[in-house]
Amino acid sequence: MNVNGKWYRAIWPDEHDPETIQIIDQRKLPHRFETVGLTNVEKTIQAIREMYVRGAPLIGATGAWGVYLSMVNMEDGQDPHQYLKTECLKISSARPTAVNLEWAVSAMEKTLLAQENVENWVKTAWVKAVEITEAEVENCRQIGQHGLPLIEEISRKRDGKTVNILTHCNAGWLACVDHGTATAPIYAAFDKGLDVHVWVDETRPLNQGARLTAWELGQHGVPHTVITDNAGGHLMQHGQVDMVIVGTDRTTHTGDVANKVGTYLKALAARDNNVPFYVALPSSTIDWEIEDGVKSIPIETRDPDEVRMVWGLHDKHLVDVLVPPENSPALNIAFDVTPARLVTGLITERGLCKASAAGIRALFPDLSK
Ligand code: MRU
Repeated sequence: MNVNGKWYRAIWPDEHDPETIQIIDQRKLPHRFETVGLTNVEKTIQAIREMYVRGAPLIGATGAWGVYLSMVNMEDGQDPHQYLKTECLKISSARPTAVNLEWAVSAMEKTLLAQENVENWVKTAWVKAVEITEAEVENCRQIGQHGLPLIEEISRKRDGKTVNILTHCNAGWLACVDHGTATAPIYAAFDKGLDVHVWVDETRPLNQGARLTAWELGQHGVPHTVITDNAGGHLMQHGQVDMVIVGTDRTTHTGDVANKVGTYLKALAARDNNVPFYVALPSSTIDWEIEDGVKSIPIETRDPDEVRMVWGLHDKHLVDVLVPPENSPALNIAFDVTPARLVTGLITERGLCKASAAGIRALFPDLSK
């Protein structure tokens, strides 16, 4: 997608050095655009854990490239199978909630184990990481095509007047290599000339909405307005939200949706106001094991200082500012789970379905257990 008129993805192999994988340092956006080269597993894990990269599909793709880098750095004399197992475990434990990480790393591991000749592992890992990355890009493009008619229908009902879409966190191309999940239908509608406007939840504590979603929509020219996380309910009560589209870090095969904390409250407000609430996701984000998302999806708690501090640009410097009294403790719950009953529908690479075991199974009979 667009960065100052130049086409970028959120992760790509360095064109001059195939042993370096480039990422955008998302911690610095929107005020600085910097890229970082990953050359080994330690740096890759640091990038995932410290959120240089974030968002479920991008974390998955980064994990896949991490396995490739571990193959590049395998030393002579190591037991390759033991080494592969240890490296994969290290990478897939970097963050707990996004299921894509485990999915991508285990796909890499299986592919390598299927290769009898260990000499081929570097090449095989490269090919598989490219495949995973390209598949996620295509999945997101398809999500855009399947979500587009929903926006077109609202636009028709409103006689072409602005369609107002609310989104939470960043489920845009920055979170997904390209296109995004929640943003894919929005970009598709905008590119087709529909009049769309996006309410962007700022998404405390790290403000992925205000910082990342607002930035990438702005780079593409999509009209948008940043709102506080608590403003959505009011806007819905006053008819100013036509639909909600969010992404997800893990959705159970029964339709419960884990996403950035605050999503659940948006779903409740949407239900109370008859606003359709859609979740956009590639199938790599579906958890085929867990039945009850509220009880069983592991929810990451993060550094309390993310709640206590606010980061931004002041006087040309990037600064952190302390908000509460210095000694007040904080709790930083990073995700919440929206029960399936509050979700109008899922937008996937294979089309729309109900957020239910039957709905998901009907679209993905080959992946269901
Ligand atoms: O903690 P983050 O920034 O990795 O948050 C994850 C997310 O980006 C979101 O929850 C997003 O809405 C779903 S992932 C496309």
